Amino acid sequence: MLDASAVLAAVSPTQAIERTRLAFERHARGEWEMPAKVYLEAPPNGDFRAMPARGDGFALLKWVTSFPRNPERGLPVVAGALLLSSAETGELLAIIDCASITSLRTGAGAALSAQVLAADRASTAGIIGCGVNGAWAARCLAAAGYGPGVCADRRAEAATALADELGWKMGERSEAARQDVVVSVTPGAEPVILAADLRPGQHLAALGADAAGKAEVELAAVRRCRLFCDEREQASAGGELANGIGEGVVSAAELTQLGDVLIGRAAGRASSEEVTLFDSTGLAIQDLAIAIAVYDAWRDGVVGGQSVTF
Ligand SMILES: NC(=O)c1ccc[n+]([C@@H]2O[C@H](COP(=O)([O-])OP(=O)(O)OC[C@H]3O[C@@H](n4cnc5c(N)ncnc54)[C@H](O)[C@@H]3O)[C@@H](O)[C@H]2O)c1
Repeated sequence: MLDASAVLAAVSPTQAIERTRLAFERHARGEWEMPAKVYLEAPPNGDFRAMPARGDGFALLKWVTSFPRNPERGLPVVAGALLLSSAETGELLAIIDCASITSLRTGAGAALSAQVLAADRASTAGIIGCGVNGAWAARCLAAAGYGPGVCADRRAEAATALADELGWKMGERSEAARQDVVVSVTPGAEPVILAADLRPGQHLAALGADAAGKAEVELAAVRRCRLFCDEREQASAGGELANGIGEGVVSAAELTQLGDVLIGRAAGRASSEEVTLFDSTGLAIQDLAIAIAVYDAWRDGVVGGQSVTF
């Protein structure tokens, strides 16, 4: 059993980005398998998700929450456990903390989307929502060489703490939304990226709206962007771009999958002027890539864990 400290000691943000890239490539080539995730609503508190994937001799199931009002109770939004099994024998190999894996792979996905889709001259970063996953997105962007950045949050203390950690600055939402690479990681209760904020050549990564009914980007802004997603079926069903599809202003066929760009099957950014938007709904293949790295680090004696026998 590997806890959050083991996960974060095993995989750096830079390694998380490399592993996430590999996951998107292998999935796009059809080498890794990922059935659609299952949502189990828990009204009025949030939802559970069951997320399976298989690849490189391993199989995984992540059982994870999104309980947006949990911080009011002093509890995290995202929590749960991840089961890693051998795809050769079916044996359960490890139970791993899932909040830390989720943060690493979500932040790494945002940084990877910037590496692949942002304009060549892009450097500054804006983070809107500096909670648990926003902070890791910022750390991954910094590890990928982006910055300095502007950190914005309704809770000034969260923005200040993140800005101080990275040597960035705290600022207003509208200032963060004007940076070269903008990452939003709020609960998705209202738009935090408006059409009026957009500048030519920006790259946006919308991470917070990862289920039906959530949105962070004004529809008028979505309409001005070239649209990318992590996985078309999932992004069409729930998440940032699902709203546009529901309203009839976006069609699923317009969404280009990041993995397809990575393996050269689809084109990425077409000009230095267009605004690209990456919709992250969160994929089990990302979790698998990080979980394998954590398991390898444990097997190599780099990090410790506790043992149980079932
Ligand atoms: N795409 C993915 O794969 C993925 C992965 C993990 C989490 N998420 C989603 O990201 C969201 C945030 O998760 P978290 O664990 O970081 O939660 P969190 O509570 O730790 O952080 C959310 C932050 O957003 C801030 N915030 C809320 N409304 C805001 C607004 N209008 N403007 C600016 N800041 C605002 C809050 O003050 C808080 O600091 C959730 O909806 C979660 O489901 C998505």
